[in-house]
Amino acid sequence: MKNDSVITLVTGGNRGMGLAIAKSLATSGQKVIIGSRNLDNGLAAVEKLNSEGLKLDAIQLDVTDSTSVTAAAHTLAKKYGYLTTLINNAGSVFDFGMEPSQISQELLRKDFEVNYFGLIDVTQKMMPLLKKAPQAKIINISSMMGSKTEALNPQSEVYRAVAVGYQSAKAAANMFTVQLAKEMSRNNLPITVNAIDPGMVATEFGGATPEQAREMGAKPITVGIKRTIALATDFENKDNATFTNINGPVAW
Ligand SMILES: NC(=O)c1ccc[n+]([C@@H]2O[C@H](COP(=O)([O-])OP(=O)(O)OC[C@H]3O[C@@H](n4cnc5c(N)ncnc54)[C@H](OP(=O)(O)O)[C@@H]3O)[C@@H](O)[C@H]2O)c1
Repeated sequence: MKNDSVITLVTGGNRGMGLAIAKSLATSGQKVIIGSRNLDNGLAAVEKLNSEGLKLDAIQLDVTDSTSVTAAAHTLAKKYGYLTTLINNAGSVFDFGMEPSQISQELLRKDFEVNYFGLIDVTQKMMPLLKKAPQAKIINISSMMGSKTEALNPQSEVYRAVAVGYQSAKAAANMFTVQLAKEMSRNNLPITVNAIDPGMVATEFGGATPEQAREMGAKPITVGIKRTIALATDFENKDNATFTNINGPVAW
């Protein structure tokens, strides 16, 4: 496929890594749609990028609101007819630093609504559009925080991190990645499904400022999106059911 026939949807594309991914892929010639739960924020992001000479689109998309997801899929079907790449980037953490013995059901469910159920709802509702492209890919922005191997490794950068709701939701999204990838292969569909660990990145994730995140060792956004951009611009589209970061495979 040529880059200019690629149509990419980035959820949570109005800021942070999602915005940087959208900008980078639009710069490479892809048609990029920013999904934003607050449409005004999505439109403001698009307006700024358009003023820099890029041409992106924005769509209202709250991944936790099934009506919003259905409407977005409908609009994209009417406007574009197909989707080549779905980047499930929208994510949130609600329980950072909380002890597993104390964490409330309410916060656990919030973590799962965005990072697991929302991701699956978007994926299922965009599937008819992905099936219409000659080849397609789904990239799930996961986290090393979802790796049980890393959580048990004292040398790991995530060894001391505790957010059991967020971590479990990302681990669950990793299993969804594997099972969906296997389903696509079983049915000989040209759709790949992979998970990405961006590393610790200086965004507003978790309520910190990018400066605070940098002081804690977070990497620049340009580094955090590198692996995603490599996958999103790989037209061989051979990688399937992988969990990787810029250093290679990440333990599940
Ligand atoms: N930053 C890190 O260190 C790090 C490390 C590992 C993995 N990640 C993952 O990377 C992804 C991007 O994170 P980031 O660092 O760029 O965070 P961020 O700057 O906080 O951006 C998060 C994005 O997700 C959107 N979002 C949250 N809930 C949503 C919902 N219900 N529906 C639609 N969009 C929603 C936000 O929209 P609003 O503007 O409306 O809030 C925002 O656009 C997330 O999946 C995160 O788990 C981040």
